[in-house]
Amino acid sequence: MTPDKRARLAGQASEILRENDRGNYTIPTKGLYPFQWNWDSCLTALGFAAFDEDRAWREMETLFAHQWPDGMVPHIVFHQMDEGYFPGPEVWQTGRPVPTSGITQPPVAGFAARRIYERSRNKAAVADRARALAQKIDRWHAFLYSARDPEGEGLVAITHPWQAGRDISIDWDEPFERVPTEGVTPYQRRDVQHADPAHRPTKAQYDRYLWLVEHFRRHGWDNAKLHDLSPFRVVDPGFNAILIRASADLAELAEELGLPDIARANRERAAKGLKALDRLWSERDRQYLCLDRTTGRLIDSLSVGGLMPVFAAIPAGRARTIRARIKEISGRCRYIVPSHDPADPRFDAKRYWRGPAWLVVNYMIADGLAASGISDVAEAIRASSLSLIETSGFAEYYDPLTGEPCGGGRFTWTAAMVLEFLGGGAELVSA
Ligand code: GLC
Repeated sequence: MTPDKRARLAGQASEILRENDRGNYTIPTKGLYPFQWNWDSCLTALGFAAFDEDRAWREMETLFAHQWPDGMVPHIVFHQMDEGYFPGPEVWQTGRPVPTSGITQPPVAGFAARRIYERSRNKAAVADRARALAQKIDRWHAFLYSARDPEGEGLVAITHPWQAGRDISIDWDEPFERVPTEGVTPYQRRDVQHADPAHRPTKAQYDRYLWLVEHFRRHGWDNAKLHDLSPFRVVDPGFNAILIRASADLAELAEELGLPDIARANRERAAKGLKALDRLWSERDRQYLCLDRTTGRLIDSLSVGGLMPVFAAIPAGRARTIRARIKEISGRCRYIVPSHDPADPRFDAKRYWRGPAWLVVNYMIADGLAASGISDVAEAIRASSLSLIETSGFAEYYDPLTGEPCGGGRFTWTAAMVLEFLGGGAELVSA
C-alpha cells in the first residue's frame, strides 16, 4: 500500500472515531447503537491510542467505572437515554446507579490494556492509571471464573448469546431450542428500523433473547445463581480464548507494574484455561466447537468462534490446523474470514454473525496467527480486511462472497481495527 493511501485510510478511520466520540466513551455507530458497548470500547481504545493515548485510557476507565460490585463488567452502559434503542434500561432493570445491561461480553480488556501500555511513549506517566485498571480487570476475570465456571473446569460458560458478542451465530440454534418463548412481554424492536431486517435476527430468536433477560431479571440479576438457573449454558471457544489471552496479557502487564499477586493469579488462570480448551477440539472438523454445558456435548456448527482460539497460545500443531482450515474456507469466499463456514447449508452471507466477515474477529485471528509465526494467512487476513474497507467503507460487517457492506455504517470498532491493521502506533495519524 502506498504511503498516501495508508494516510488516507488512517485519516478516515480517525475521523469516524472522533465523530462517534461522546467525550468519555464512544458509541459503536449512530442510530443503531447509541450507548457504550463493552468489547467495542476496549478494541476502540486501541484505535484511539494511535493518536490520543489519554483518550484511549479514558475509554476503558469509563467502562470500568460501571463495573458491578460482584466484578462483572456489563455489556452495555446506558449513559444517556435514547428512545431509538431496544431493549433499554426499562427492560433490563438492573438497578445500577447509571443503568447498564445485566450480562457481560468477551473480556478483551486485559489484552487491550497491555497493548496500549506497551506502546505508550511515557509509561511512567500512565503507570498509576494502568495499575488501577489492571486491578479492575483482575476482578472481572475472577468473577468470570467463579460465576461462570462454578465447577472449576477452567472454561467459562455464557448464559446469553449476546455475551459471546457473536449474537446470532448458528452455534446457538441448537441450545436455543431449550429456551422458551412463552410469556415474553410484548415488545417493539428498534434494530430493524436502522438496518435491513434480512441482515438481523428473526423474531423467534429475539423472543428467546428477551425470555432470558426477563428470566434473569426475575431472579434479581444475582450472578451467584444465574449460571445454574439458565437453560442456556454454552462454552464458547471464542469467549474462552479471549479470556485466556487477556489473562496471560494481564499477568505480563501486572508483573511490569509491580502487582505480583495479580500476575500470579492470571498466569494460573491462563494455564488452566489453555489446558481445558482442548476439550473443545474436534478432530473430525479440524477446529474447535462450542460445548453445550447442559448436555455435555459439542455443538455441530463450524463457526469462526472455533477458529478464534489461535488468539490464545494454543499448541503449535493446533494453530497450523487452524491455518489450513482458514485456507480451505478462503477457497469458498472472496473475503475472509466469514463468521461461518460457507460449506454449511445454514451459512447466510448477509445475516450478521451467520456468515458475514467482521474486522474485529479478523484482527484477533491475524494477531494470534502472527504470534504463532504463521505470517502468510495473517497477512492474507489483513489484506482482505483492508480491501473490504477500500471497496465498501467502514461498515459493521460484510458479505464475504461479494464484499457488500451490511448492518450499520461509519462503524467505530471497524475504524479502530483499520488503524491497527495499518500498523497502530502514534505516527499513523496526526492529532
Ligand atoms: C452487535 C454485535 C456485538 C457488538 C454490538 C455493538 O450487538 O453482535 O458484538 O458489541 O453490536 O457494536
